[in-house]
Amino acid sequence: MMDNKDSRIVIVGAGVFGLAAARQLAMEGYRNLLVLDRSMPPVADGSSSDISRMIRFDYADDDYLRIAHQAYLEWSQPKYQGIFYPAPFILTGNTSAHGQAWIASTTAALTRRDLPYTRLEDVAATKQMHPVLSGPLAAPPFNGYLNTQAGWADANKAISQIRDDCLELGVSFLCGRSGTVVGLETDASKKITAVRTLVGSPIEGDCFLLTAGAWGSSLVPMYNSTLTTGQVVAYLRLTPEELAQYRDLPMYANFSTGWFNFPPHEETGILKFAIHGWGYTRAPDQEEMMIVNQANVSAPPLIPPRERRNFVPADGEARLREGLREILPELADRPFEKLALCWYTDTPTGDFILDYHPDFTNLFVGGAGSGHGFKFLPVLGEYMSLALKKALPENLAHKWRFRTDYATREDVFLGDGSRGGPIRRELNPKERAKL
Ligand SMILES: *[C@@H]1O[C@H](CO)[C@@H](O)[C@H](O)[C@H]1NC(C)=O
Ligand SMILES: *[C@@H]1O[C@H](CO)[C@@H](O)[C@H](O)[C@H]1NC(C)=O
Ligand SMILES: *[C@@H]1O[C@H](CO)[C@@H](O)[C@H](O)[C@H]1NC(C)=O
Ligand SMILES: *[C@@H]1O[C@H](CO)[C@@H](O)[C@H](O)[C@H]1NC(C)=O
Repeated sequence: MMDNKDSRIVIVGAGVFGLAAARQLAMEGYRNLLVLDRSMPPVADGSSSDISRMIRFDYADDDYLRIAHQAYLEWSQPKYQGIFYPAPFILTGNTSAHGQAWIASTTAALTRRDLPYTRLEDVAATKQMHPVLSGPLAAPPFNGYLNTQAGWADANKAISQIRDDCLELGVSFLCGRSGTVVGLETDASKKITAVRTLVGSPIEGDCFLLTAGAWGSSLVPMYNSTLTTGQVVAYLRLTPEELAQYRDLPMYANFSTGWFNFPPHEETGILKFAIHGWGYTRAPDQEEMMIVNQANVSAPPLIPPRERRNFVPADGEARLREGLREILPELADRPFEKLALCWYTDTPTGDFILDYHPDFTNLFVGGAGSGHGFKFLPVLGEYMSLALKKALPENLAHKWRFRTDYATREDVFLGDGSRGGPIRRELNPKERAKL
């Protein structure tokens, strides 16, 4: 399959995982690559799209730290000029055992690799270093550190660039209804022969990559190894004076709540912040279950809106405001320009899945970004390609394997330790109607 450069490779999903794989395979000389999605990338409601995504290499896990650092060095290259913006990253939490442990293990991992960081002893020291942080920050005792080697990427621009790289390298795209995959066709030997789409005839191929993010779990049995959740994001409009005033705002993440922010996005005049938390689930409706989601697993609406809907549940909105009040109280009562849900694909451990699906001989699953995949964009394709050829180093192959052992366990989604805030819940009917 992968030893023939003329194999017909069909990539279902044009987010960061799908495009990174397509670009890498095209560079390696594969000649027959087709990317399918519900719209041309950047796909408005996909988790690879937005004005910003955080780029950092702060990880407790040595593998992610090493690869994220490799990616960070790439983001800093001229290729990503006008796309990547350096900014300091502050990671804090209160003294809860959970927050403490996370900060301790992350800084220990940085130390092991000789990467510098600055411990933040208390609120006063933090505010002295970053006077723009006008709020109370935290009730004592404060616990945190600062890493100046971090930043954010304009996600839409990064995705547009990698899409154009793909086009230039000869990758084909099929988008819209005829690129909206709703099912698979298999032969007697568990081989996928084609994917069915909303309209048109099935699309045949030799090898299929499922990189459909939050939409992928509806298409094949995932053995309880992924869960799709919506996470809240807020956008606040700043005046030109405020843009200047907040230009040096650090990215500040409160581990106890999952709240974090970006520096202002100058081009749009927007201050963005979000919560990396437990999120909301959304069961499919009757029609979606008929079309695609027979397993009744949480999923976002199938048809992409032109842009993300301006809505988050009221409890999410309140949490977004509370977090802002802790760092920039002078902005905390301003109306939001926009609110939105961003759909993640979580795994129980937060590890990605880069592996063949156990039920099929030619279906590779790439994704389950668990809210931290985007930053790997510059180097992700190399790992996808190795995984496709079953040539990953053993520890990574193990980390990113497709796990079937969750299938019979009750609630396996307790997280990777990086989530804060209230527990996950299902969206109610009124909330669903607004999506
Ligand atoms: C830390 O924050 C969490 C979430 O807000 C809270 O439940 C916990 O009580 C806090 N712990 C301390 C020691 O302040
Ligand atoms: C994080 O948020 C919690 C809950 O609002 C708050 O008690 C705590 O002081 C905050 N910590 C930091 C470091 O901002
Ligand atoms: C699908 O799952 C949701 C949430 O778990 C549940 O409320 C709903 O009744 C299920 N729908 C069907 C048709 O089984
Ligand atoms: C995992 O699967 C079991 C049984 O197959 C089911 O009862 C349970 O609800 C699933 N858990 C999740 C989080 O989907």
